[in-house]
Amino acid sequence: MQEIKVQLSKNKKEKPIDEQLPFGRYFTDHMFVMDYSEEKGWFDPRIIPYQPIVLDPAAIIFHYGQTVFEGLKAYVTKDQDVLLFRPDENMKRMNRSNQRLCIPEIDEDLALEALKKLISIDRDWIPTKEGTSLYIRPFVFATEPYLGVAPSTTYQFVIILSPVGAYYKEGMNPVKIAVESEYVRAVKGGTGGAKTAGNYASALKAQEVAEKEGYSQVLWLDGKEHKYIEEVGSMNVFFKIDGEIITPAVNGSILQGITRKSVIELLKYWEMPVVERKISMEEVYQAYKEGKLEEAFGTGTAAVISPIGELFWNDLKLTIHNGKTGELSKKLYDTLTGIQTGKVADPLNWVM
Ligand code: COI
Repeated sequence: MQEIKVQLSKNKKEKPIDEQLPFGRYFTDHMFVMDYSEEKGWFDPRIIPYQPIVLDPAAIIFHYGQTVFEGLKAYVTKDQDVLLFRPDENMKRMNRSNQRLCIPEIDEDLALEALKKLISIDRDWIPTKEGTSLYIRPFVFATEPYLGVAPSTTYQFVIILSPVGAYYKEGMNPVKIAVESEYVRAVKGGTGGAKTAGNYASALKAQEVAEKEGYSQVLWLDGKEHKYIEEVGSMNVFFKIDGEIITPAVNGSILQGITRKSVIELLKYWEMPVVERKISMEEVYQAYKEGKLEEAFGTGTAAVISPIGELFWNDLKLTIHNGKTGELSKKLYDTLTGIQTGKVADPLNWVM
């Protein structure tokens, strides 16, 4: 494996106070960087002081969005051990996204090593207050100055770290969601299954409209028939209907969330009925009318579990679990964050 060089920062920044941590606004003292060229492959892995990135204005990333990113979290236990939640899954997914965006794959072991080394250098930045963590953002982008539409021949891979609090201001309180009937997030054959910037940029409009109408996020329906449920905001989504837990099956336009996968595995471990299949908004509405819609929640790295208290669809307001956090949502949140912080047993060996 290539050696990771380290240049330490001489100007340490002031750390934010754990009690007031927002999501994604503070960054630690160092960053990891590695370059790619066709001649050298990935080269010069290094940890350097956190600093701006200088790019040519013609760099392909600015024009055609050839980029992918990941998100994962580190926690510190009461015994001062640093825990990472399934980081190998993030590295695998990053390479799947790379393949989709014609970006050269990265050595997953080297990326993991880089991540661990960076965290050990900035470990004092890991917040300890309940509900906080160190959010890790690896990303790759096309750096070649070229206005032709073609895969770049040069790239940079960067990892930055951000001490964070809750993603949604609501925290674990249920959010109100508008079912999106005009815009779509992704289509089959598109890039919805990859973690790439364009998916998030194209989602902004729907979110802006929903927010103006008093909703936190939108529920995305499929791009073809506008019928089947895909995701909620930037998260995967689950419904508990008549005792069974259902999540849309991955189909190419849905992101394969690591929290999604963990929730499915945990439910199976608890021997609860969980299925991955197509689920339409009509079916959710029917279940609601029959009093069988017990819970709904989003899953993602940033918020972990985000209960849905209300769905607005076709002028109808569906109040779920009386607008309160459901038992299953709470149990999943407590278990996942408990495992992540080393406070509860890790039966499926997820933390490392
Ligand atoms: C998630 O973890 O839910 C995300 O998709 C990350 C978000 C900040 C883009």
